[in-house]
Amino acid sequence: MKNIIIFGGGFDPIHNGHMNMAINASKALNAEVFFVPARIAVWKSESIASPEQKIEMVELAIKEAGKEDVFHISDYEIKSNKETNYSIETVKYFKSLYPNDNLFLLIGTDQVNSFEKWKEAEEIAKLATIIFFPRPGYELNQENIDHFKMKQIEGDLIEENSSSIRELKSLRIPRSVADYIIDKELYFMPKIKSYMGEKRYRHSISVAKLAADIAVCNKKEDWWRYLRAGLLHDIAKEMPIMEQKVLMAELYPEYVGVPRQIHHQFLGEYLAKRDFGLEDAEEIEAIKYHTTGKANMSAVAKVIYASDKIEPTRGFDSSELINSIKVNIDYGFISVLSANREYFIEHNIEYDNPLTKECMEFYLGK
Ligand SMILES: [Fe+2]
Ligand SMILES: [Fe+2]
Repeated sequence: MKNIIIFGGGFDPIHNGHMNMAINASKALNAEVFFVPARIAVWKSESIASPEQKIEMVELAIKEAGKEDVFHISDYEIKSNKETNYSIETVKYFKSLYPNDNLFLLIGTDQVNSFEKWKEAEEIAKLATIIFFPRPGYELNQENIDHFKMKQIEGDLIEENSSSIRELKSLRIPRSVADYIIDKELYFMPKIKSYMGEKRYRHSISVAKLAADIAVCNKKEDWWRYLRAGLLHDIAKEMPIMEQKVLMAELYPEYVGVPRQIHHQFLGEYLAKRDFGLEDAEEIEAIKYHTTGKANMSAVAKVIYASDKIEPTRGFDSSELINSIKVNIDYGFISVLSANREYFIEHNIEYDNPLTKECMEFYLGK
């Protein structure tokens, strides 16, 4: 007799919160988990990824977690032609497939309190044990827990939600899912694309993926911040010149005098905040100084500066520099900066803006 957990949800997209719950619940109950992506979730109507794409993202997440032996995907709800999929039907379907096994239905903490309103709630609780994770500070309806004999599963929750991901507010998702979202141009990607031509869009993606790779190689769990800063770093580059002039004079009067091709880094900061609601101070710094650098840069700023110069589509052999920053961000950044200064000297390019000077002197000496 097996233990089987039914884990339904929008999975639009799947994220680390889902994976963490599945892993903890599976461990606690020694159970296999079936992810059951909803075609259209009962509780919300908007969805941007197609059902097939949602399934592919769950597949990637399972593979990345190395859980192929115990985590599975059911396309029961996705394949259903019903207007609305109710949990009772999904539970009955699993009971028909696994009549002799123990079924568990994993529900969200917020769903515990309103479970009695679910269609045929009593019947669901008869066919499957309802399980949930407690959330710190979240008051649970003990009456429902007792009445439906719900079982609490222990384990830390990772706070994340799919709508934040769709809006690029956070990206706590498996790395392979992030790459999939970028490659399939889901969620926030069409918006980013609308700011730039194809070539710059490809460059931005290349910078973002390289920055994320560098972060992962340097054991940064927050690699997704590097990815996001990379995606956004050049959003102001194709802003009409007149608009750039007006905004520079208004918002960055102290930098109006620096060469014009540098202006987009400041305006990038402005657009990232205004249009994408970016609040992360280090990512903002990374965008704001990605062309010039400055003194005292954060790891994110160093990686975006370097990735922008050495991403593989730049057209020169940057593999050594890439390898060096993958080993160590601080040393690798210095290597990129030195190579950049050598290039300036060789080509007689003056870097007579105060920020580049400040950066070179701070990290390389005079
Ligand atoms: Fe740039
Ligand atoms: Fe760039």
